[in-house]
Amino acid sequence: MDENLLQIRGLEKWFGTLKVFEGVDLDVKAGEVVSIIGASGSGKTTLLRCVNLLETFQAGTILLDGNPVGYHEANSKRKRFSERVIARQRLLTGMVFQQFNLFPHMTALCNVSLGLIKVKKLSKAEAEKEASRWLERVGLSDKIHSRPSQLSGGQQQRVAIARAVAMNPKILLFDEPTSALDPELVGEVLNVIKQLAADGATMVIVTHEMRFAYEVSDKVVFMDKGKIASMGTPAEIFEERKSDRLKEFLSTFNS
Ligand SMILES: Nc1ncnc2c1ncn2[C@@H]1O[C@H](COP(=O)(O)OP(=O)(O)OP(=O)(O)O)[C@@H](O)[C@H]1O
Ligand SMILES: [Mg+2]
Repeated sequence: MDENLLQIRGLEKWFGTLKVFEGVDLDVKAGEVVSIIGASGSGKTTLLRCVNLLETFQAGTILLDGNPVGYHEANSKRKRFSERVIARQRLLTGMVFQQFNLFPHMTALCNVSLGLIKVKKLSKAEAEKEASRWLERVGLSDKIHSRPSQLSGGQQQRVAIARAVAMNPKILLFDEPTSALDPELVGEVLNVIKQLAADGATMVIVTHEMRFAYEVSDKVVFMDKGKIASMGTPAEIFEERKSDRLKEFLSTFNS
C-alpha cells in the first residue's frame, strides 16, 4: 500500500468567484490522526467535503489509497468520474457532521444498519448484528431501539460515529463533531474518537477542542484563509507557535 493513505496536492477550489483554496497540500498516513484547526471561514469544512466529494474542486489532485478521487485525466483533459464511480469512491471515507445528520424517524439500530443493507448488501440480520456491535462499542447497547429525539446530543453523535465506522471506510472525516453539544456531553464523544484512534483508525478531525487535538493528533494543521499556514506535531503547533497568525489564533482559546 502507498505510504500516504490520503495525498492532496495543489488543491484549488472556487465558490463562484470566491477562491477558497490557494493550492493545499496534505498527506495523511495510514493510522495517522490529523487535526485541522483554524478560524471560521478558513476552509476546514470545505477541505473535508472535497475529500468526501460533497464539493467539486477545480484543480489539484486527491489520492486515496493511491487512486485519484473525483477527477482523472483523459486525453490530457481533466474529467470528473461518473456519479457511479464517485458513489463508490465516497465509500472510502466516513464522514461525521457537526449536526449528526441522523434519520429522525429511525432507531439507532436502523440508522447504523441502513447503509450496511442498502450499500454493502448485507442481510438485515447480519447488518443488525454488525450495527449492534458498533453501537455497543460506542457505549449505546441500551439505546439501540431509541430514535434520535429520545437521545442526548452526545448519544446521537455516538450513533453517527457508529454509522460511519460500521461501513468500514479507509478514513474517517470529522467536522467539528462536538461543537453542537452541551459542554458536559463533549467528553463522551471525544472519548469514543480517542478509542478509535487507539484502535488504529485513520482520521482527519476539524476541531476547536485544542486540548483534544493536542492529545489525540499525530499532526496538527493550521488553516488560514484557504491555505495551510502551519503544520506540525502537537508540540510544534501548540507549544512553539511559530507564526504570529498561529499565536493570535491560539490566544483566543484558554487551553
Ligand atoms: N456553499 C458555499 N457557497 C459559497 N461559499 C461558500 C460555501 N461554503 C463555504 N463557502 C465559503 O468558503 C469559505 C470556507 O468556508 P468553510 O465552511 O470551509 O470554512 P470553515 O473553516 O469550515 O469555517 P467554520 O469554522 O465557520 O466552520 C468561506 O469563505 C465560506 O464563506
Ligand atoms: Mg466548518
